[in-house]
Amino acid sequence: MRIVIKETKKETGKWTADYIWKKIEAFGPTAERPFVMGLPTGSSPLPIYQEWVRRYKAGEISFKNVVTFNMDEYVKIPEDHPESYHAFMYENLFNHIDCPKENINILDGNAADLEKVCKDYEAKILASGGIELFLGGIGPDGHIAFNEPGSSLVSRTRVKTLSYDTILANSRFFNNDMSKVPTQALTVGVGTVMDAREVVIIITGFNKARAVREVIEGGISHMWTVSMLQLHEHAVISLDEPATMELQVESVKYFKDIEDIAGDKMPNHIDE
Ligand code: GLP
Repeated sequence: MRIVIKETKKETGKWTADYIWKKIEAFGPTAERPFVMGLPTGSSPLPIYQEWVRRYKAGEISFKNVVTFNMDEYVKIPEDHPESYHAFMYENLFNHIDCPKENINILDGNAADLEKVCKDYEAKILASGGIELFLGGIGPDGHIAFNEPGSSLVSRTRVKTLSYDTILANSRFFNNDMSKVPTQALTVGVGTVMDAREVVIIITGFNKARAVREVIEGGISHMWTVSMLQLHEHAVISLDEPATMELQVESVKYFKDIEDIAGDKMPNHIDE
């Protein structure tokens, strides 16, 4: 696992945006062979999306040959509700770049048959050749997508009931009114994320520090579902300083030393 620590949230976002974009460039996507990417919502990836939009508007990058699969969506929230993940993604990324609409995939939490939606999503990911790179964030309880504590570490896309902690954390987007937060979501599984050829997780802010400690220094546990990444061959976690606050000084120094010695100069096959 490669751990990259930058001082601020903005720098973490910039590094991650550039890192992923270099991967896309190296892949050389075409219409016949697009780059398939998993994407999250949340405040953590926002600096990445802002940087990509900036670079797209500057004519530096194009998403024409990128296919996206979003991680999750609330159940029974209208797509045009400002807090739906559909609205979030269009508002913060898709409305501002040239990714063709038919290349964008987001789970439909309003469908009559939610189980079918989940099954079809997995099938579509497979049919598109699998996910090349999954970008993710985590919740304060270490969940990835909506894989709450106790989720199976080999889970696939499914309907999930949200934990009290997550409903509380997400109530900040619903006027701090917990009763307005949907209690269920559709989410890719931990296994779905693990199948991606590379996983990049951005974690910023002090409120994630405990989860960061569990994920990096703790063992693999279904109580901190993102810890499953310890078993991934190509996992990168990018952190800002506040997110490292619960790590041992020794761990922080260890990962910083590695980056100083080799950092971005490392060839792909040894960079995790
Ligand atoms: C939600 C999403 C996660 C996201 C998390 C953290 O729970 N389902 O995918 O990682 O929020 O969001 P934020 O980055 O705003 O802390």
